[in-house]
Amino acid sequence: MKVLITGAAGQLGLALTRTQPSNVQVVRLARAELDITDPNALLAVLTLHKPNVVINAAAYTLVDQAQSDPQSAEQVNAVAPGAIALACHRAQARLIHVSTDYVFDGTAHQPYLPESTTQPLGVYGASKRRGEIAVLQALGTDALVVRSSWLYAATARNFLTRMLELMRERPQLKIVMDQIGAPTLADDLAQALWTLTDGRLNGIQHWCNSGVASWYDFAVAIAEEAHTRGLLAQIPSLLPIISADYPTPAVRPHFSVLDKRRTEVALGVVAPHWRSSLRCALDTLTPTLTLGRPS
Ligand SMILES: NC(=O)c1ccc[n+]([C@@H]2O[C@H](COP(=O)([O-])OP(=O)(O)OC[C@H]3O[C@@H](n4cnc5c(N)ncnc54)[C@H](OP(=O)(O)O)[C@@H]3O)[C@@H](O)[C@H]2O)c1
Repeated sequence: MKVLITGAAGQLGLALTRTQPSNVQVVRLARAELDITDPNALLAVLTLHKPNVVINAAAYTLVDQAQSDPQSAEQVNAVAPGAIALACHRAQARLIHVSTDYVFDGTAHQPYLPESTTQPLGVYGASKRRGEIAVLQALGTDALVVRSSWLYAATARNFLTRMLELMRERPQLKIVMDQIGAPTLADDLAQALWTLTDGRLNGIQHWCNSGVASWYDFAVAIAEEAHTRGLLAQIPSLLPIISADYPTPAVRPHFSVLDKRRTEVALGVVAPHWRSSLRCALDTLTPTLTLGRPS
């Protein structure tokens, strides 16, 4: 099987490379090699490589910046996925398109099902939702959209790596405690996506790590686990705050936990708990290689 990955230099793209099964031939295309907003380039790479499956890991993911740059978010997250879907249809390649928990407004009191009503709060979430719709409309029952949440990895720029930086620099940090989600190791999502390349599922699927946490809970766990591993000399004082005390250009949902049970049953696997995946991610870091020796 040949799989083509778009956005291959991004957080998920790199995780797909790290977790690549040995029996799969992979074509990795970073933005410099394939701009997904260029329909001619899309057709050209599909004609050249003839993949069986395309995993669209490319996206405009700057949630706050999207508020002042809606055109870019729309082109990358909404228009391009529709074009990729049509190109895949013509090239007889299956498409796995990745989406987000930010398509929901966060007012629910229980995890969101794939069919739950979407109501994005910001430009990023709205553009991602339009991308989902474009893929579903282009491919019908053959479409596969996988929503995930709060992605992080031991490398790349994300909440984990930012927290580790800040925790080393500052004696005290204020962290939002009224946004609840499921932190998800990009490598765990990548493994689920590799399983899904066999075409056993379609429609909208939810996949994230098990358990729930606030950003505050996640930060506390990062501090504790990093300290245990010698990645942090000291645990800084962590103060829980509410979103209203940390205004951002884009409003985030207060609760965006995805109900992934149906996908788990269909795949015959249970997603690892976010805290055990956090430990796995931190186990790949060493004090000397990543953050300098703790003083
Ligand atoms: N990060 C999260 O917390 C999160 C949560 C839920 C779902 N998701 C979804 O998961 C997927 C992967 O996200 P991620 O965390 O891996 O994001 P990421 O690290 O920002 O990676 C996205 C990649 O797409 C590339 N890209 C942007 N515009 C492009 C274009 N026009 N053509 C080709 N490539 C382009 C980016 O390149 P540049 O860096 O050069 O712009 C980047 O390498 C996305 O669909 C995202 O919506 C993410």
